[in-house]
Amino acid sequence: MKTLKIQLALTILLFAGNLRAQTTTADYGSVIPQPALLEEPAGEAPFVLDGRTCIHPGAGLAREAEFLREYILEMCGIEVPIVKRSPKRRVIELRISSQITGREAYAVEIDAERVVISGATSAGVFYGIQTLRKSLPVADCTQVLLPAAAIGSTPRFGYRGAMLDVSRHFFDVEFVKEFIDMLALHNINRFHWHLTDDQGWRIEIASYPRLTEIGSYRPQTIVGRHGEGGYDRIPHAGYYTREQAAEIVRYAAERHIDVIPEIDMPGHMVAALAAYPELGCTGGPYAVRTRWEIADEVLCVGQQRTLDFVKGVLDEILEIFPSEWIHIGGDECPKQFWKECPHCQRKITELGFDREENPEERLQGWFMREVSNYLGSRGRHIIGWDEILEGDCVGPHDIIMSWRGDKGGITAAGKHIRTIMASEKVLYFDRYQTPGRQQVEPLGFGGCNTLERVYAYDPLASIPAGLEKYVLGCQGSLWTEYVATENHAMHMFLPRAAALAEIQWADPATKDYEAFLRRLPRLLEIYRLYGWTYAPYVLEEIRTLTPENHKTTDKP
Ligand code: ACM
Ligand code: ZN
Repeated sequence: MKTLKIQLALTILLFAGNLRAQTTTADYGSVIPQPALLEEPAGEAPFVLDGRTCIHPGAGLAREAEFLREYILEMCGIEVPIVKRSPKRRVIELRISSQITGREAYAVEIDAERVVISGATSAGVFYGIQTLRKSLPVADCTQVLLPAAAIGSTPRFGYRGAMLDVSRHFFDVEFVKEFIDMLALHNINRFHWHLTDDQGWRIEIASYPRLTEIGSYRPQTIVGRHGEGGYDRIPHAGYYTREQAAEIVRYAAERHIDVIPEIDMPGHMVAALAAYPELGCTGGPYAVRTRWEIADEVLCVGQQRTLDFVKGVLDEILEIFPSEWIHIGGDECPKQFWKECPHCQRKITELGFDREENPEERLQGWFMREVSNYLGSRGRHIIGWDEILEGDCVGPHDIIMSWRGDKGGITAAGKHIRTIMASEKVLYFDRYQTPGRQQVEPLGFGGCNTLERVYAYDPLASIPAGLEKYVLGCQGSLWTEYVATENHAMHMFLPRAAALAEIQWADPATKDYEAFLRRLPRLLEIYRLYGWTYAPYVLEEIRTLTPENHKTTDKP
């Protein structure tokens, strides 16, 4: 499917006739995220990448060599063989090097004889490959000149995340893989997979089969933000089998991406309640939600069987997902049912929270702590949305994902708890992208996080001096209430993912939005090569740049 799309894109380019150059030149200056070091000594002969070039992988880098071979073929149409013995010349060497410090850092050295891509680990080599790939032209050509250069970079943050919500709208395995390909292109190393919510349970759990038999299906979906258009009367369903999820984990791991599953609890659980109503405070009946508001119905955490259920689900999640971190949600959990539920109230008394100011908040805190401890006993740690700070329950190994602005991250860092910045005000990609012109965009959640706004964000700007080390990184999140198709999902994610990549990886001292816009067209060409839809509004911004340095080949 992917190969077909690329062949089609290259054929269109050929017929368009505008990129049929025989010899083209790599452009390291266009790479996003920008490498920290880029030196191109004047007067030195370039390396010639053509049919006589080969790739020689060092030990443990066979898969990386295969990626590089595929990328060169896809980008330029040049077939470069992988060889077991290194020739003296015309070779791209992949190496693990103890000279490089930083687990994901890379160096790319290019002279007339060879290209050497090195890293302290295979991940570093992979990012060096990504940089070389992104410097290549998208053009069917017989040779590419790689100017002599020394390129090197190390990421600013260890956690460079992106989230996809597959509950509100389900996306199939092929698209999830394509989304992971997009992450790899942007040097993103964590895929946060929002697998469960009120509107659909999307992961098979063998010991609770009704979660997918019942919870993965809704008979219809609200039309418009508040139901202005009624309901669409179109059933929406889908889930990943355990094997499919494991396949996604393997696919991501090859691309040096950890998959962090999210099982959102104790709120956002109506799909599970529809399947197992005894887990709710009233016993139901419940129905998988067909609207988007926060649901009042949540797990009844006063019952032992609820904790047993959660542990049973997580046991299977741990079998599928090797990630050190498991996201357990914790956001937006209304507590009115708990106030009236005999089980929940009994638990509150038993725990002594009835003598405290906000007993139901403490009850959620206790529940999150129980789950965190359980995962801790299995060698894993939790990530929770910033609401979990409110239950006075956060342990030293827990991680706070700050989504309601930066304040959760600031509070967490102040308590010496690690945090990931994921502010809805900047990094939620379900928001609009053009200020004041939302009528030209598809229906979105509201709010406006422009490309420039994402680019301008600094995850550390609001963190008090000395506490920066508690910020692991940042994440862009694609919620899909209003995003029902793959093209729409890509339109929301691209090119904001490019700005995200830059703030996750590059040195903020080198930030310059106009320069970023000038670098963007080559990445847009790569999006087009893969048939990835991107939000076109940026083309207008690029067009308004001063023409003398204007590099784009884009046609609106
Ligand atoms: C969230 O957006 N409810 C984490
Ligand atoms: Zn209850």
